[in-house]
Amino acid sequence: MKLGIIVGTRPEIVKMAPVVRACRRKRVPFVFIHTGQHYSYELDGVFFDELKLPRPDHNLSVGSGTHPQQIAAMVRGLELVFNAERPDMVLVEGDTNTVLAAGLTANKLAIPVGHIEAGLRSYDRRMPEEMNRIVIDHLSDLLFAPTEQCRKILLKEGIPPERIFVTGNTVVDELILQKPRALKAVDFNILGVAPRGYAIATVHRPENTENEKRLGAIFAGLRAAAKSLNLPILMPLHPRTRKRVESLGWRLDKEIRALPPQGYLEFLGLQANASIIFTDSGGVQEEACCLRVPCVTLRDSTERPESIDVGANVLAGADAKKIAACARKMIFIKRDWRNPFGKGDSAERIIKIAANYLKTR
Ligand code: UD1
Ligand code: UDP
Repeated sequence: MKLGIIVGTRPEIVKMAPVVRACRRKRVPFVFIHTGQHYSYELDGVFFDELKLPRPDHNLSVGSGTHPQQIAAMVRGLELVFNAERPDMVLVEGDTNTVLAAGLTANKLAIPVGHIEAGLRSYDRRMPEEMNRIVIDHLSDLLFAPTEQCRKILLKEGIPPERIFVTGNTVVDELILQKPRALKAVDFNILGVAPRGYAIATVHRPENTENEKRLGAIFAGLRAAAKSLNLPILMPLHPRTRKRVESLGWRLDKEIRALPPQGYLEFLGLQANASIIFTDSGGVQEEACCLRVPCVTLRDSTERPESIDVGANVLAGADAKKIAACARKMIFIKRDWRNPFGKGDSAERIIKIAANYLKTR
């Protein structure tokens, strides 16, 4: 048996890391393939270094472009690699263009596909990720749903129950493993803040960054929240957001302090010690919930409603008043919720299920 493990972007590297380690522990052969969708050191290499991952066996270096161009380049490159390596199953994680391209290519070459983080739906079809989620789930042979709620969504869409396995989310595996290192990784003196004396914000979704009105309202909401909570907001900027802020000629100031994208350990340490987190990221909503730090989500919908159901997260959209009001409410909540995303054993379970499937095929 040989697995093809695919990554392309920052969150996929983080969430596939436990799968790579589980393969090594269980001596399951695998070929590690990177599409190169993310390529800047701070979105790519730093994660391999900090998480002590092997270098990919293949890197297609597709880089950025329009979505059709990016996906086409991936499909072309992946066909060559899959034909040369002939993996028995391809594992993809999440909802990016990398996931869509790898799933499609494997399926067309009659290679079974396992989708990790299956069954998430925001029900907002304007998000490129939502269409990727729907397509990948419907062409996958094995669907690893993080929660029972995700399994129910898949069943409702007509996916045969024998293909679906509730495994938890591998984000928890990585967080549990790395938290002790992460807690030592932040230099609060250099940042000029004290533990619990700051908030964190991240914004990178195109529906926020590419819409000036929404982005302006988010920054206004963050400033108002910072003033009323009397906390500075540290904001590691995704390159997409940095470019946009610069092209609009906006300046971030003392209430919102821009930082470069952080490494995983530094960012996990920053999250763990934050008083509150503002984000439009999927992975950050999950990590905030696991770390028991209240989260205000800067979107109108989420495909992670489990974190809202347990009381860890609220949706504030891109509405300045609502962002500040949600912050004032969430900062006082009792941080005793249950983590709905699993126990930290997801990767081992995924590998076991994939191995059984391939044995009995
Ligand atoms: C992608 C995923 C998104 C995921 C995010 C994780 C899709 C459709 N989007 O969004 O689901 O949440 O990754 O961060 O797959 N750039 C760099 N360096 C890089 C990569 C990108 O500077 O290494 C800049 C380029 O200007 C590029 C822009 O960021 O045009 C956007 O990159 P892209 O990969 O298209 O999408 P993300 O916004 O990163
Ligand atoms: N992350 C990081 N540094 C940062 C911002 C995020 O290491 O400056 C990590 C974060 O801890 C999480 C992942 O990147 O594991 C989330 O990625 P992102 O927000 O880019 O994408 P999404 O999860 O929304 O797809």
